[in-house]
Amino acid sequence: MNRYHRRHLGRRPMLLPFAVPWASEAGAAGLSGAQAGTAMALVIAVAVVLMAGLALHREQRRREVVEEALAASKIQQQALIDTMVDAVIIIDDMGRIQNFNPAAEAMFGHAASKVIGQNIRLLMPEPHHSAHDGYLARHKETGVRCVLGRRSEVEALRRDGSRFPVELAVTAMKIHGRRLFSGLLRDITERRKVERLKDEFIATISHELRTPLTAIRGSLGLINGGVVGELPAQSAALIRLAHDNSERLLLLVDDLLDVERLGSGRMEFHFVSLALMPLIEEAIAKNAAVAEKHAVQCVIVRHLDGASVHGDPQRLLQVLGNLLSNACKFSPRDSTVEIDVMHREDRVRIDIRDYGPGIAEELRPRLFSRFAQGDTGNTRQSGGTGLGLCISKAIVERHGGEIGFVPGAEVGTTFYLELAALGSMPSPNAIDQGRKE
Ligand SMILES: Nc1ncnc2c1ncn2[C@@H]1O[C@H](COP(=O)(O)OP(=O)(O)O)[C@@H](O)[C@H]1O
Ligand SMILES: [Mg+2]
Repeated sequence: MNRYHRRHLGRRPMLLPFAVPWASEAGAAGLSGAQAGTAMALVIAVAVVLMAGLALHREQRRREVVEEALAASKIQQQALIDTMVDAVIIIDDMGRIQNFNPAAEAMFGHAASKVIGQNIRLLMPEPHHSAHDGYLARHKETGVRCVLGRRSEVEALRRDGSRFPVELAVTAMKIHGRRLFSGLLRDITERRKVERLKDEFIATISHELRTPLTAIRGSLGLINGGVVGELPAQSAALIRLAHDNSERLLLLVDDLLDVERLGSGRMEFHFVSLALMPLIEEAIAKNAAVAEKHAVQCVIVRHLDGASVHGDPQRLLQVLGNLLSNACKFSPRDSTVEIDVMHREDRVRIDIRDYGPGIAEELRPRLFSRFAQGDTGNTRQSGGTGLGLCISKAIVERHGGEIGFVPGAEVGTTFYLELAALGSMPSPNAIDQGRKE
C-alpha cells in the first residue's frame, strides 16, 4: 500500500456517516431495506423539485436582468435621441411619424405630441410633399432607394410655411417585423450662407484684387526694365523691391484661387493627348528665369521619345513648373537639376532630382498639405507660398496620376510624377543618357 492508498483508505470510515447519513440512522431505527429505498427516493424527488425550482428561479432572474438591461438601453437610446443636436425623426412604412426628438421640434416649430402619427409629408415642401407616398410605395415594392443609405441635401418645411435646406441621412430598420425609417436632419442654412460668402469673397479676390495687382506689376515691370528712362539708383532699388513683392502677391492670389477652385471642384480641366517630352522641355524653358536666378542648370538625363499622356497641358505645366522651381530654389549654386524620364509598366514617370539640402524630417508628413513650408533660412529666402505641392497633388490626382518624393535619398531631393501612358510604350533603348538642355 502506497502513501495515497494509506491516506484515502484510512479516511473512508470517517466519510460514510456524512455521505449517507440516513443509512446508519435507518439501520439504527430498525427500518427495512424497502423503507430505506422509499425514503431515499423521496429525498431524491425533493432534491429534484428543489433543483427545478432553483433553475426556474434562476431563469426568471436572468429574464429580469435582460429586461432591466433592455429597459436601461431603451432609456439611454431615448436620452441620446432627445439630447442630439441633430433632428431625429422615425417613421413607419406608411410614412407616419413615430418619433420626433426635441431638436426636430426646435427645427420645424412643431410639438412632438402634435406630429406623432401624422404623415411625414407635413414637413416637406412641394414637389416632395406630393411625391413622398409614392417613394415609400415604390421602395416597398421594388426596393429602389431614393435617399436611403446616403447623405443628401433637401428642402424642409417649417410650421410657419418657410422653407430651409437640410442635410438628410436616412436608415431603414426592421423591429419585430415592422419596417421603420429613421432620418437624421441637420439645418444647413448657415453653411449655405458661408458658402455663398466664400464664393463672393473669391469673386472679389479674383476681380477686385487680382486685376489691379496685375496692372501694378506690369507698370513696375516696365519702369524696372528702363522703358521710361534711367532711374536714380535709390529709386531703382525701391522699384525693384515693389516689383518683386507685387509678383509674390500675385503668385499668392493665384495659388489661393487655385486651391479654392480645386477644393470646390470648380477648376476646369481640358484633357487632350500630349507628347510628353515637348511638354517637359516647355516646362524647363518657362522655368529658365528661376534656374538662372539660382545659377542652376536643368538637364534631361534620360528621354522617353514618343511617349504621350492624356492631360491638361496648362495644368501639367503648372505641376512640372512647381517641381522644377522648387528644385532650383533649394539647389546650391552651380549645381544641376536632373530630369529623368522613364516608363513603369503602363505609366510614364518623371523624376526631378536636385542636390539641395533634402526635405526636413518634420516637414515630410505634411509636405503636400496647404501652407507647408520648411523652417530653414533657405526656405524663407526662397519665397513661395507653401501651396505649390498641395495644388500639384490635386492636379495630378485629377489626372489619375501620382506625385511624391523618394524617401531615403542620401543627397538632395527627388520628386517623382507618374501618369498613365497613352498608346504603346516606346522601347527602353530610347534612353539617351546625358543629353543636355
Ligand atoms: N526640392 C526641394 N528641396 C527641399 N525642400 C523642398 C523641395 N521642394 C519642396 N520643398 C519644401 O516644401 C515646401 C513646400 O513647397 P511648395 O508647396 O512648392 O511651396 P513653395 O514652393 O511655395 O514654398 C517648400 O517651402 C520647401 O520647404
Ligand atoms: Mg513651390
